[in-house]
Amino acid sequence: MYFSFETIPTFVWVFIATYAIYLIKKPRLSKNEPPMVPYKYPIIGHTVDYALNADNFLVECRQKYGDPFNIYVFGQVFTIAGNEIAHEVYKQSDTFSLTIATRDMFPLYRVLKSVLDPGTLEQVVKTIREGITAKLSLYTGRLQKQIMTYINKEIGDCSSPKLIKTANDNFASMIARPIADVLVGQEISKNEDVIKAFADFTKDFTKILAIPPILSFIHPKVHTQVITLPLRIGFNPILKHLITLKKHLKPVLEKRLKEKKILGEKYEPPVDIVEYFLDNPEYETKAITDDYLTKITEFLFSIVVASIHTTSRHLTSALYDFAGRPEFWDDIYEEQLRIDKECNGELTPHHINKMVKLDSFLRESLRTFDAVASTPHRCLESYTFKNGMTIPKGRTVQTYLMDIHYNTTAYGPEPRSFLPYHGLENNFSASRTDKNFFMFGAGKHACPGRFFAVSEIKIGLHKLILNYHIRTPSGKVEKKVHYGPFSEPPVAGLIFESRKK
Ligand code: HEM
Ligand SMILES: *[C@@H]1O[C@H](CO)[C@@H](O)[C@H](O)[C@H]1NC(C)=O
Ligand SMILES: *[C@@H]1O[C@H](CO)[C@@H](O)[C@H](O)[C@H]1NC(C)=O
Repeated sequence: MYFSFETIPTFVWVFIATYAIYLIKKPRLSKNEPPMVPYKYPIIGHTVDYALNADNFLVECRQKYGDPFNIYVFGQVFTIAGNEIAHEVYKQSDTFSLTIATRDMFPLYRVLKSVLDPGTLEQVVKTIREGITAKLSLYTGRLQKQIMTYINKEIGDCSSPKLIKTANDNFASMIARPIADVLVGQEISKNEDVIKAFADFTKDFTKILAIPPILSFIHPKVHTQVITLPLRIGFNPILKHLITLKKHLKPVLEKRLKEKKILGEKYEPPVDIVEYFLDNPEYETKAITDDYLTKITEFLFSIVVASIHTTSRHLTSALYDFAGRPEFWDDIYEEQLRIDKECNGELTPHHINKMVKLDSFLRESLRTFDAVASTPHRCLESYTFKNGMTIPKGRTVQTYLMDIHYNTTAYGPEPRSFLPYHGLENNFSASRTDKNFFMFGAGKHACPGRFFAVSEIKIGLHKLILNYHIRTPSGKVEKKVHYGPFSEPPVAGLIFESRKK
């Protein structure tokens, strides 16, 4: 067959025209849908407003169309669930799935195959509840030690003020330490390579995904295919982290199995997730085979992905909130100083509970994190809301967080202002979910790691505030960084100066 140069553009044009026709046809809607916000341009829909101006755009839509409403973004219809509807969505946990909604944008299963197994999430949640939350008091001393190791090593002496850049990892390498200690135990977590693998895993994975979902205009699956292309052709920057952990796990697991066999009843099990895993009848083994190592490594990294960057991002954000608000420095410092004296520098869970001002400050930092909409849920079968509106199977529902967090009934006439003692005055601790506080989700699937996360952040803030004066370079509150409806901590850096003792 003969191809002239002219035929090539012809093919391209036919291709584009076919897609244009495919796309210009109206987005798929069912009967009695939530109101669709009108838009001017086909295909583009509300993409520009949502990507560049999500806050104002959704405020306007919410005023005009109520709750919920539909928008058309990146070639897909999203239902935006505000204060009323979000509660219903989170309650119907059999109909709406967060895991399935995030799979297209964050295809972790390409690297950790076992996350596709429906039993894995259940095991992970159970492990966090029984192996971490229920044993938090046994971990407190270790968490504190790990955090101090980081502070002494990486922040150290700041007798002259030191600007610490946070943009690179938002203190993920601080949080990786206590998490490694809990997951793989005190022996392996001494290893700097393992700490680095934990700290970098999510970052390296996210890096290959950092392509805006332009191709979703054609179909969301096209986007997923393209972003995972490097992984599928063998470029896998994450593999090395899995190999590192496997290498260090192997001798320790073998040693533990052997000791268990020899000592029998006298065996004193270490307190960590590796031991919890070995003890779980579902994962019992007689020998540490390569398959077994893969299984446990994938399991541990799926907890790493859920835990490190979420925690470190909010620790960083709370530090910026503190550093930019001199009016609260003395009050918060005094509380930390008093508790430090009481416990002689050795925190117990009892002392962490006593940090009530710090806890309330953290809750407020979480509430005002400023994500406009997040935590998408995929509708697994056509669903009719109590108000009679219906959405079809396959629809993604976005949680309109700002509508929940900036509720005037709960937070007063200026809900966007920072109210550090709101939690304290109303007896809401930072880890407590509530109808007007969705930072950890709600209901059956609410974040199982929140008690652990809040403990780590409080220990981190406590130690940092005790040891340093912390301020922003501008002396003011620094702005968060917004990507579409998402939010990240500021990037200005923080100035640390050692307190005189
Ligand atoms: C400040 C830190 C954290 C934040 C803001 C956060 C936030 C969230 C949110 C919003 C959800 C969805 C809840 C829902 O659908 O209702 C979630 C789920 C989850 N989180 Fe966290 N999280 C944090 C730390 C952690 C930590 C430290 C761990 C592990 C130790 C963890 C493990 C999980 C898991 C396994 C789920 C899935 C639960 C399920 O689907 O049943 N998270 N988290
Ligand atoms: C604030 O939230 C509560 C509880 O979810 C709700 O009843 C109330 O209508 C909300 N207030 C506003 C102004 O949206
Ligand atoms: C504060 O809330 C906790 C549960 O979150 C509850 O056990 C306690 O009784 C409450 N205290 C007051 C004074 O309301």
